[in-house]
Amino acid sequence: MKPRSLEKHIFIYKLLSSSVINALQLIQNIREENKIGEGTYRDIYQVSPDLCAKKIKSTHKKSYKIFSISYPTNTYTLIKFGIKNFNEYEYQEYLKIKDAIPNELANSFANIEGVVEDILFQKLVKDLSENISKPLTQKKRIDNSYFWNRINQLKEFFLDEKIYNFNVKPDNILIKELDSETFIPVITDYKRIGPRTYPFQPQLVFSDIAQKKIVRRFDRLILEYKY
Ligand SMILES: Nc1ncnc2c1ncn2[C@@H]1O[C@H](COP(=O)(O)OP(=O)(O)OP(=O)(O)O)[C@@H](O)[C@H]1O
Ligand SMILES: [Mg+2]
Repeated sequence: MKPRSLEKHIFIYKLLSSSVINALQLIQNIREENKIGEGTYRDIYQVSPDLCAKKIKSTHKKSYKIFSISYPTNTYTLIKFGIKNFNEYEYQEYLKIKDAIPNELANSFANIEGVVEDILFQKLVKDLSENISKPLTQKKRIDNSYFWNRINQLKEFFLDEKIYNFNVKPDNILIKELDSETFIPVITDYKRIGPRTYPFQPQLVFSDIAQKKIVRRFDRLILEYKY
């Protein structure tokens, strides 16, 4: 069995054997009143004090100029990206980069615990006060040198390791408060890693073009949110 597939099986085993009640509880907690966020493809629920579940929406509404069509999400992503289950794809991409993350940056990456069909389980990002951390989109500008220093370290990390994480955008970066003076960015969404997630930009297979796109993403973030 490949190591990645082994990790997945270990996770399902842990989920089930952690006690059947617990495992069922996690799944049962995927309901409207526990919803904490939403993106283009997934709804996010708090399912335990430390975990969130990201469930692929059943339909994806695509708006055209004067009308809109709802597609089954898996069909839509299969046609657009050749990816049927974005959660599975993301998990595999995450496992590829996980080992390269240096210890000093580890708390800027929300760990993916595992995937069971269309549900991905991830560590909840929380502030010191135990409140769920907010995405950059909910802030105007951040005046914290520690935060921006970390953003630069993350940028260097992706460029040095040639990890083309095109998902660096404000709604995918949470601001975690370590203490009243220290904030760090935490990346929560690894779906769009690699040129495959931009099929209409085939030029991204060239590493220098991909690197430039990464640099532009970070520069835009700094321009928009740095105080
Ligand atoms: N680990 C987490 N801890 C706390 N909140 C989270 C976490 N992951 C996601 N969220 C919240 O849920 C929102 C949407 O999550 P996510 O980006 O994973 O969804 P998505 O549908 O994949 O997004 P996209 O629109 O980028 O495709 C985030 O903006 C954030 O507010
Ligand atoms: Mg997102």
